Amino acid sequence: MNYLFKVRVGMEKFVINGGRKLKGSVKVDSAKNAVLPMIAAAILTEEETVIKNCPPIGDVVKMTEILRSCGAKTAFCDGNLIINAKDISINSVSEKLCGSLRTSVLMLGALAGRTGGAAVYRPGGCNIGKRPVDIHLYALKTLGSSVYDESDRIICCGKPSGGDVYLDFPSVGATENALLASVTAKGVSRIFNPAKEPEIEDFVGFLNAMGAKVYGAGSSCIRVEGVKRLHGAEYTPIGDRIEAGTYLIASAITGGEIAVEGVNAENISSLTGKLCDNSCQISVGNGIIYQKSIRGRKAFDAETGPYPSFPTDLQAQITSLAAVSEGTSVIRENVFETRFGHVAELVKMGADITVDGRTETVRGVKKLHGAVVSAKDLRCGAAMVIAGLAAEGQTIVLGAHHVERGYYDVHKKLAGLGADIRGV
Ligand code: EPZ
Repeated sequence: MNYLFKVRVGMEKFVINGGRKLKGSVKVDSAKNAVLPMIAAAILTEEETVIKNCPPIGDVVKMTEILRSCGAKTAFCDGNLIINAKDISINSVSEKLCGSLRTSVLMLGALAGRTGGAAVYRPGGCNIGKRPVDIHLYALKTLGSSVYDESDRIICCGKPSGGDVYLDFPSVGATENALLASVTAKGVSRIFNPAKEPEIEDFVGFLNAMGAKVYGAGSSCIRVEGVKRLHGAEYTPIGDRIEAGTYLIASAITGGEIAVEGVNAENISSLTGKLCDNSCQISVGNGIIYQKSIRGRKAFDAETGPYPSFPTDLQAQITSLAAVSEGTSVIRENVFETRFGHVAELVKMGADITVDGRTETVRGVKKLHGAVVSAKDLRCGAAMVIAGLAAEGQTIVLGAHHVERGYYDVHKKLAGLGADIRGV
């Protein structure tokens, strides 16, 4: 079997010597947050599904381990992920696997839809807030399953029969669980106030490629006409807008000039607008985003929120940029109550940032200096790599495995853009 992507054993740290301007072009992989629900959805058919251009990043590998623990077969081959869920013999997932990532909770909707029942433990995931699953459980109950929320385990009994789900918050994961539970339900379902992220629209594209009947993704109400069964599909997910945004910010902080391929620029227009406010010229042509640093970095304000607001998954990274932008930037995190792990690490590098409630006040400094810092979570790690690229001297980012959960070969891609970075 020809492996285009090698499944990597986790790296320990990144070693970065700052001060190089990024230059050149980089291509992003498939969107992690679109691929993960697609892997769960592969359980809903006995036929083979192929998710193309799917690198074996940490979270993707973990989701395949969960599927294999239920009896499915999975393989990475020629850069694609192949899944065969013909023999699903178990509809519960171990505590260890559930605790290894957030999207283990999607196995509730997927296994209930396939087998009429599911048992999972509380999900893991980045430590960026309380991250309860109450909206997920409300959706599954409303769609006709009996849900038992015990102290550590969650049990779902009965095949979903459909219904109207009103989400209090446009939760990405709860929208995905509701979709997984409703596509093969007996009746019609409607999901009001669903998440509108591009990854949700892409996930619906995958479900419909499998024969589902889902309409209205991206609007304020998604309608699902349940079908008896889904068939296999071969599907190319959208490019990862968060990966793309991470490289664009990395180029801006170094005064660089790069081209980013493989992502729809509209999906990160909230970021490219900020980069223009800060220091860049951004243009788009033939599906490529061209970024050029054209002046000194200036402070800016940002507020995260559900799509199409500024993405919470780029908040840590843009804080690194604000840290070395002239003036005072105010950045407000409205999605996760404690997504500030990167602040203390940036302060170790000389940043001047204070946090009050959900608001960061970032007083720009001329330069950051290298330090030994930690990747507290996936996007904190990305923020620290970005800061290291611009800092004077050497930065060591510990906990590189956190970054590898969401970025494939990030050090190689950055080195390809001229950064002095290596993974150890
Ligand atoms: C998804 O997480 C993404 N993860 C996150 O990306 C992303 O930050 C988030 O959506 C928001 O866009 C994946 O897709 C794998 P939510 P999810 O449910 O589904 C609260 C990354 O870095 N909430 O939209 O967990 C929750 O606590 C990751 O790639 C409830 O209160 O996000 C949070 O405050 C990090 N009850 C807010 O809603 C619930 O039942 C948004 O959560 C569910 C969520």
